[in-house]
Amino acid sequence: MRIVLGVSGGIAAYKAVEVCRRLVDAGHHVTPVLTEAARRFVGAATFSALASDPVPEGIWEPFEGRIAHTGLGRAADLVVVAPATADLLARYAAGMADDLLTATLLATGAPVVVCPAMHTEMWEHPAVAENLATLRRRGVRVVPPESGRLAGGDEGTGRMAEPGTIVAAVLAVLDASSGEARRGDLSGRRVVVSAGGTREAIDPVRVITNRSSGKQGHAVAEAAADRGAKVTLVTASALPAPSGVDTVRVESAAEMEAAIDAAARDADVVVMAAAVADFRPKAASDQKVHGVPELVLEPTPDILAGLAARRRPGQVLVGFAAETEDAVGRAGRKLERKGVDLLVVNDVSAPGVGFEHDTNEVTILGSDGGRINVPLGSKRLVADAVLDAVAARLRGGSTAGADTETGDTGESR
Ligand code: PMT
Repeated sequence: MRIVLGVSGGIAAYKAVEVCRRLVDAGHHVTPVLTEAARRFVGAATFSALASDPVPEGIWEPFEGRIAHTGLGRAADLVVVAPATADLLARYAAGMADDLLTATLLATGAPVVVCPAMHTEMWEHPAVAENLATLRRRGVRVVPPESGRLAGGDEGTGRMAEPGTIVAAVLAVLDASSGEARRGDLSGRRVVVSAGGTREAIDPVRVITNRSSGKQGHAVAEAAADRGAKVTLVTASALPAPSGVDTVRVESAAEMEAAIDAAARDADVVVMAAAVADFRPKAASDQKVHGVPELVLEPTPDILAGLAARRRPGQVLVGFAAETEDAVGRAGRKLERKGVDLLVVNDVSAPGVGFEHDTNEVTILGSDGGRINVPLGSKRLVADAVLDAVAARLRGGSTAGADTETGDTGESR
């Protein structure tokens, strides 16, 4: 998820550094936006070193090639302001937009969390209370300050909540808002998902296979069912079947092809997360081979390309691509070759990415040139990002984002 971390000018700005680090560690894409006053307490370099993006210069400088405040506001899944000073709360409540942070707050439709921090007298002032009441009425969540030591050695209420409390509040709001937005968005849709690595028999004892655990495909099936779809999972993995999902167990590419083809006939969406073996022994021995066998290999059927050739109108086809070098460049070419709508690329040479891990990091390429980067996070988080792109396609929308690269070298399948 994309989080804008607003920091205004109070001594608690030093605690915002820890908030930033923890949100990044939780797998979120964090862009810090500092007011001029915040920069007097903590340098921008500190946030730039820890966050996903460098601190944007200000309202007059483009950020990632777009107008900074609208680009940040529209892309954000959540904006959190920590610390939020009395001055920042007043300007936000009044609808002012005289710096990058207040302009971003006005430009976003995402949930906003504010974490006030100030001296007790200011916290208890009716102006602050009224500004907070106005913001609460507009749906802004407030993480209230705590009692304790304040700047200048004073004691009282007004100290910003601890980073752990703020991060827990942010994650709870993100969970609630993404669950709410997604709930039922695939209801009435039929979704077919493949998972796991197929096993191609050499003889009754040995197989050719790969490292796929099936975790990513099972996460996609589970997420699609949670979002209301009727899901068929065709899996070569031994993982338990997700609840509420029709599960078909297969072993080889040929079995997977037959099961997928049958299920895909009336499907709205097919997601091929399986690592289908690209080749198999031309003839499996029906007795155990003794000694070193001389294997003659043949290609397996390309299930995804077959689906693309026979697809029914409006059906959305999604492939995955496991790559180890020039991942996005190669995948861009694979997307065209396979004729799919979306290709989910994982660079499986990166730590925590792809085969067997509980986490993944992907780029989703669209046949419309769209491109979405999903930062390292749980496979469920990646599954929901893929299904967000699928749901946008079903609604007739585009994938989003910038152009993909293209080229023309020879490829594996
Ligand atoms: O299972 P996990 O341990 O959780 O790991 C997840 C994963 C890395 C397996 C998954 O995220 C992934 O990348 N799956 C696709 C791996 C792969 O086989 O990529 P590929 O580039 O070889 O194939 C491209 C696409 O064509 C895939 O959608 C594949 O399912 C499909 N294909 C490939 C060969 C074939 N004969 N038929 C196919 O349909």
